[in-house]
Amino acid sequence: MSDFCAYIDRELPRFREELETFLRIPSISTDSERAGDVRACAGWVAEHLAAAGVPGAEVIETGGHPIVVAERIHAPDAPTVLVYGHYDVQPSEPDELWSSPPFEPTVRDGRLYARGAVDDKGQVHMHIKALETRLATGAGVPVNLKLVIEGEEEVGSRHLAAFLSENAERLACDAVLISDTGMFSPDLPCITTGLRGIVYTEINVFGPASDLHSGSYGGAVVNPANALAAILAGLRDDRGRATVPGYYDAVRPITERERADLERLPMDDETLRAGVGAPALGGEAGFSALERLWYRPTLDVNGMLSGFTGEGSKTVLPSRAMAKVSMRLVPDQDPAQVIEAFEARVHELAPEGVTVEIKRSHGGAPWVADTGHPIFGAASAALESGFGAPPAFVREGGSIPIVQAFEETFEAPALLIGFALPGCNMHAPDEWIDLGVYRNGIAALADLYGRLTDGLN
Ligand code: BES
Ligand code: MN
Ligand code: MN
Repeated sequence: MSDFCAYIDRELPRFREELETFLRIPSISTDSERAGDVRACAGWVAEHLAAAGVPGAEVIETGGHPIVVAERIHAPDAPTVLVYGHYDVQPSEPDELWSSPPFEPTVRDGRLYARGAVDDKGQVHMHIKALETRLATGAGVPVNLKLVIEGEEEVGSRHLAAFLSENAERLACDAVLISDTGMFSPDLPCITTGLRGIVYTEINVFGPASDLHSGSYGGAVVNPANALAAILAGLRDDRGRATVPGYYDAVRPITERERADLERLPMDDETLRAGVGAPALGGEAGFSALERLWYRPTLDVNGMLSGFTGEGSKTVLPSRAMAKVSMRLVPDQDPAQVIEAFEARVHELAPEGVTVEIKRSHGGAPWVADTGHPIFGAASAALESGFGAPPAFVREGGSIPIVQAFEETFEAPALLIGFALPGCNMHAPDEWIDLGVYRNGIAALADLYGRLTDGLN
């Protein structure tokens, strides 16, 4: 272990420079104009895996953005671990709210700021550097390795599930290791044992054939913006619950044990409220913030567009209105069932005089780990070695839609060890990674790669 730390501390300035070159590539998967950058970024990952001692990575075309696949199979009898991550990032706008440009990585106060710093390029880079550390110090890697680093996570992993099932034999593994989640504080590492699923939709409401004068027609022609507002308001009741029929039927109740575990975590509603700078918290009545985030489903508006939104006023009756609405799902809700019930409910809420169309964007199932698996013991020991404290077992309100598919395709447990700190601005301006966590995380992962044989054999 101390060998690893000596190597890491000596090479850390170079590691950071490399990470900065990775972060300079604007690999925004949702922006078709950036497709060339996304592809270049895949090439960067493949090259840097080779430089770290894992040669032969392939950049595989998918019809969308490419997937980087590398293998290091050295011992047929040893267990195989598949490392998953993503090199694509969210858009950076609004750029004017960044303190330094999103694709010009900048260090301030021990943090490296850039789009993708922590989601997920920084965390992918930690794995590459952990592998380099073991190989360069002669420790070797006692398990067979497969790496799958995709470029479409932020757009719902459009091609990955099919790729996994088509290549099930090539990618077969005994465990899946993922760093794309968070931790509580720089000295409290975390293992994430559950993720919410997601169903993402777009509602379009159409009224008159074109925009109208709101004096000449207002009051007699149904206004699509008003109609959409009524639909959105009707989708939730005054206790903060979704009114989609059957929405809560499959939701597992929170157990006494889970409540007791939550109580012990160093997080309460007031800390969370202060952290986000909101005047008060809200949500489903009768639950604490962490219960709402980890164990309860949501229905949220992500965006709305209609009518005149420029400076001043314009008396217009818009011809259409649009809202993006997503639902975060928990075990055992089924995304396919939820979307059907949601669509029926929206049509039921729509007033006469408008037509409504609903587009289905992406979706993914919720996931919960079987923490009895011995790999969780190996991971706890590794995190304690890197951070000086054993990890907390937490859940995450966000989604990584492919995790469930990994477990199903390979019948292998997924281990989620993440390094994003609260307030790290994932998907927001001024995203950052803590450089101390980056260093300790590389040390913990270098240690973990040596322990996986105990957990899997
Ligand atoms: N890394 C995140 C998942 C995550 C979010 C982990 C928050 C920890 C905290 C991932 O890249 C992500 O953003 N997922 C999307 C999935 C969606 C685009 C299908 C999400 O949760 O919104
Ligand atoms: Mn991510
Ligand atoms: Mn993300």
